[in-house]
Amino acid sequence: MDMHICKNYEDLSTKACAHVVGQIAGKENSVLGLATGGTPEGMYKNLAEQHEKGELSFQHVTTFNLDEYIGLPTYHPLSYRAYMKAHLFSKVDLSAVNTHLPDGQAADLTAECARYEALLRDAGGVDLQVLGLGHNGHIGFNEPGTPFSSTTHIVELDEKTREANARYFEKKSDVPRKAITMGIETILAAREILVLISGADKAEALREMLYREITNEFPATALQQHPNVTILADEQAAKEL
Ligand code: GLP
Repeated sequence: MDMHICKNYEDLSTKACAHVVGQIAGKENSVLGLATGGTPEGMYKNLAEQHEKGELSFQHVTTFNLDEYIGLPTYHPLSYRAYMKAHLFSKVDLSAVNTHLPDGQAADLTAECARYEALLRDAGGVDLQVLGLGHNGHIGFNEPGTPFSSTTHIVELDEKTREANARYFEKKSDVPRKAITMGIETILAAREILVLISGADKAEALREMLYREITNEFPATALQQHPNVTILADEQAAKEL
């Protein structure tokens, strides 16, 4: 794993943006795997700014998000589709037909998982997958205990994850209990992975991700097996290393 320690969150966001721009510039028809959460917001802001300056086009880019809540309407402001629209899709020239998220409102959720996997395969797989890291080691919504052989599937969210995400909702009981997420196998199939980690509260999780033995009790340790991982961590997140 290629580890870079960034001065602060701004520096991390600038470097993350540059990494994604490098991918888009280096391959026409790039397929990006995208993440939600607080950490990538700065990266999306920088990408949108570069597009606005006329320096970056997403015209030939396809995106696949990691996950989506089950049960929130897509127009709900806290759905991941709405997050992506607010932070990126509405600000750049990505064609709507090229942006994909699992449909957490599908009538048949099991069929939806299979559809999403097939769509990813048909697109040729992900070139660069952006990831955040949950405090309990989750990547996407793959909670502790998830088999590394998992593909896109339905998950019951961990109470800790619901607590962490409650900051966006009016109250914790509003946080959905289930989600659809790419599996660990799906994530590891990406040709390159970029992990973004910011803040002192992630310091322990980053240390475990890097140094704990590979175990599905801490899903992010699966990344140790991937041949092409870049980690951008700010100084706060790196303070336990
Ligand atoms: C969420 C998301 C993940 C994200 C993680 C960390 O629950 N499903 O994709 O990477 O938790 O989020 P944050 O960046 O807000 O700390």
